[in-house]
Formats: sequence, C-alpha cells, structure tokens
Amino acid sequence: MIISKVADLRQELKSKDPGAKVGLVPTMGYLHRGHLSLIERARAENDIVVLSIFVNPTQFAPNEDFDSYPRDLEKDCKLAYQSGANYIFAPSDKEMYGANYSTYVNVDGNISRGLCGKSRPNHFRGVTTIVSKLFNIVNPSNAYFGMKDAQQLSIINRMVKDLNYNINIVPCPIVRDENGLALSSRNAYLTDEAKKQALILSRSLKEAKTLYLEGENNAQELKRYIRGKINSMSLAKIDYVEIVDQETLENIDYINRPSIIALAVYFGKSRLLDNIVLEDK
Ligand code: PAF
Repeated sequence: MIISKVADLRQELKSKDPGAKVGLVPTMGYLHRGHLSLIERARAENDIVVLSIFVNPTQFAPNEDFDSYPRDLEKDCKLAYQSGANYIFAPSDKEMYGANYSTYVNVDGNISRGLCGKSRPNHFRGVTTIVSKLFNIVNPSNAYFGMKDAQQLSIINRMVKDLNYNINIVPCPIVRDENGLALSSRNAYLTDEAKKQALILSRSLKEAKTLYLEGENNAQELKRYIRGKINSMSLAKIDYVEIVDQETLENIDYINRPSIIALAVYFGKSRLLDNIVLEDK
C-alpha cells in the first residue's frame, strides 16, 4: 500500500497487533539491489516492513542535485513489494516540511564535520532531521541503513544513543555490481568511461586492506597508496581519502583499533562514496 500522509500511516500501523515488530527502511528511492537487500533483511526480521521514499530537500545544498536526483516511484513500488515491503511511505515535501517548519536535529562535533561534512556542511543535519521524523512517525523496532554511507551510519548511531531512541539500528553490507562498483542511485549519472574508471575505488581499497593485513599500520602510507591509484585515472577528482576510527570517525595515524578507510571521489558530476573496514588484526 502506498501512503503519502503521516496521519494515514500512523492510523494504519495503529490498527496492527501492538506487539508486531516494525522494520523501517528509509530511502530516497530510485531503488537498486543495495536498497532491496535492506528490504529483504527487514522482511526476514520483522512482522511489518515500511519503506520510505522521500528525496529529502534539507540534506541537499542549493548547488547540489536535488532537482535532478533520479526518481521513479512506479518502478520503486514494484521492486519494493517484490522484496517484501508492506507499506511504502512516499510523502510530499509539504507533508514533511509544512509552513513555518523550524525544527532541526543536529549531531554536533567532529563526527559530522569531517569526511563528507567538510564539503557538505549542512547535509547531515538534513539527514538526522528527516530520519528522526521518520522514527517518530513509524516508531520502528529496527531501522536498516547501508554501510556505504559509513558516516551517515555512525551519525545515526550517535543520534539514537544521545536521544534515547529505543530503535535497533541494523547496518547492512555494501552491495556491489559484478565488477566491484558500490551500488548507488547516483551511478545513474556515470558515463561508460567513468563507470570503468570508478572501479579503481573498490580495487584500491581492497589492495590497501591487503597491505594492512600484511603489516602496514601507517595510515599515511595506505592513504598515499590509494590516492596514487585514484589519481592515475583521468576522470577522477578526489574529495577525500581518510582513515578514521570506526565509531567516532576521528582521524587515525597509526591503525591499532577497528577503523575504516573512507573515500569520496568525483567522476564528472557524480560524487562516489566507498569504504572498507579494517578490523583489529
Ligand atoms: O541514505 C539515504 O538514502 C538518505 O540519506 C536517507 C537516510 C534516506 C535520509 O534521507
């Protein structure tokens, strides 16, 4: 069932068994296999699955791709039902941000300021605002987020702890295409050549992880290695390549705790994210 009004979704969920476990999968639509893996996981772990589809204006800066962000609600609904969603919540901008809207949720500090926060200063404020609104509307037991957006996941975990949400955040593995490119709705913007060159991202991350497992703990060395590989691609423009603590996202010089190598790289107008976890050896 597609629902566009907050009151209707609340009414519908209220009519269910109060003990029913609700799983929420927040998305901006244009679903790919990565999203479908979140829906399937939610289906397996809950009685009711709510998928939200909302291209959230407050997480885009004025110069970003809000207007051109790919949208295909009809196709999304088909895919979502096939993967096990019961409800698709697809509200309008006005429904989520009515007249005189003034309240924002902001996770403060380095966790939001580094990595993507440097080039997208208000992005995470928009994300945490819409995610907390969705949490309040759906009141799920479990909420599902992809690990490709590693910083988003850490910030949401922080918000859930800090604001005492009684919601289990379920991190789901990155889904890649057959060549290793992390799936993203923004891959739709890539030319064939850019798509080919972008494979360097997952390859260089994997190679750096092998170097780490073979004994290289110096973060500068691993970052230098990855940057060199990426810079050899004519269409690539690095936004950042960083190695950070997995929970706090603080930069690390010597890798001696669970960490992530995270990167953002432009290929034309697509800004692609990828990361790899370095577990304790
Ligand atoms: O990851 C996304 O698609 C979005 O940032 C989210 C979590 C749906 C909030 O708009």
